Amino acid sequence: MSTTSAPTILTGLRVNSEFTLGNFLGALLPMVRLANSHSNKSHINIFVPDLHSIIAEVDGELQQNLIKSLKYYLAAGLELTPHVHLYRQSRVPAHSELCWILNCVASMGELNRMTQYKDKSEGKDNVNVGIFDYPVLMAADILLYDAVYVPVGEDQFQHLELTRRLAQRFNNHFGEIFTLPAEPKDQIKFMNLSEGVRIRDLQNPEKKMSKSAAAENSKIMLSDDPTAVKKKIMSATTDSVGKIQFDMFNQPGISNLLQIEAIVTGLPLQDVISTWAGETHYGDLKQKVAESVSAFLATFQAKLAEIPDSAVLDLLAAGETYANKVANAKLYQVQKAFHLR
Ligand code: TRP
Repeated sequence: MSTTSAPTILTGLRVNSEFTLGNFLGALLPMVRLANSHSNKSHINIFVPDLHSIIAEVDGELQQNLIKSLKYYLAAGLELTPHVHLYRQSRVPAHSELCWILNCVASMGELNRMTQYKDKSEGKDNVNVGIFDYPVLMAADILLYDAVYVPVGEDQFQHLELTRRLAQRFNNHFGEIFTLPAEPKDQIKFMNLSEGVRIRDLQNPEKKMSKSAAAENSKIMLSDDPTAVKKKIMSATTDSVGKIQFDMFNQPGISNLLQIEAIVTGLPLQDVISTWAGETHYGDLKQKVAESVSAFLATFQAKLAEIPDSAVLDLLAAGETYANKVANAKLYQVQKAFHLR
């Protein structure tokens, strides 16, 4: 459906009232940079999967938080060309419709194998069907727009693989209706990352940085005070190797700091690694990263405060008109394949 020949890029950002630096650096910022470097040619769909949000309890803050989530993209520097489309999943009913249809293509067995489902349902005796069906709705989100590149965290790669499988199965049966998103390894290549970026917990760098971490020192929130945040970085766990080098396996703490430095300064990771090659003083690295993160947070928070809600609502109105048009056209083809039309 694309009016341009360059592949469509699509991503969903779950409504999140509070972002860690990990969420921001690992997913949002690379996406913004990617969008900015392609939005003259490719369609860039950035949507809020609000129907995915309700697999867990939501409250009266949902709309406010949703707007805030989108402001994060704008504050991160997203350039608004006519190819950039922002929309809410729930305002494009074709997502739910295609989800139902794909439910009739997907098998219980393959959904049962999804790690995220297993994690979220483990030990609970009352799991809602939405949690189980989450990946199918995600497949619909992607396939409606013929999206090829879907920048997501590596925890979502399994869902991408499922999307490819469902699309393939559907196409085998009905002809080439869906475009398959690129394989995870090609996604990574496209995103220009040496691996799926996963910012680590500062205190326990074996683990991903998580907003639910108990220790405040483990995580950096985007709303953290830019001065106070320096202490957290200075107290980050490192190792006893005594060399500053990128080795996620043996030196996850140091590698994490190098990765954070690269992303907040916008420099290629390789450049940051070369700059520090041969250095041995972990304290110097921490000092530098602390300054970089602090400056970054101050700038970011100032930008965020400048964006009015009305700016976001206007963008959504335009984006939803576009999204409904594209999604309905694809849905119609699918409905025809199933003799629903
Ligand atoms: N599941 C994604 C996440 O947890 C969010 C999401 C929903 C998404 N639908 C999507 C991402 C479609 C990319 C494409 O982050």
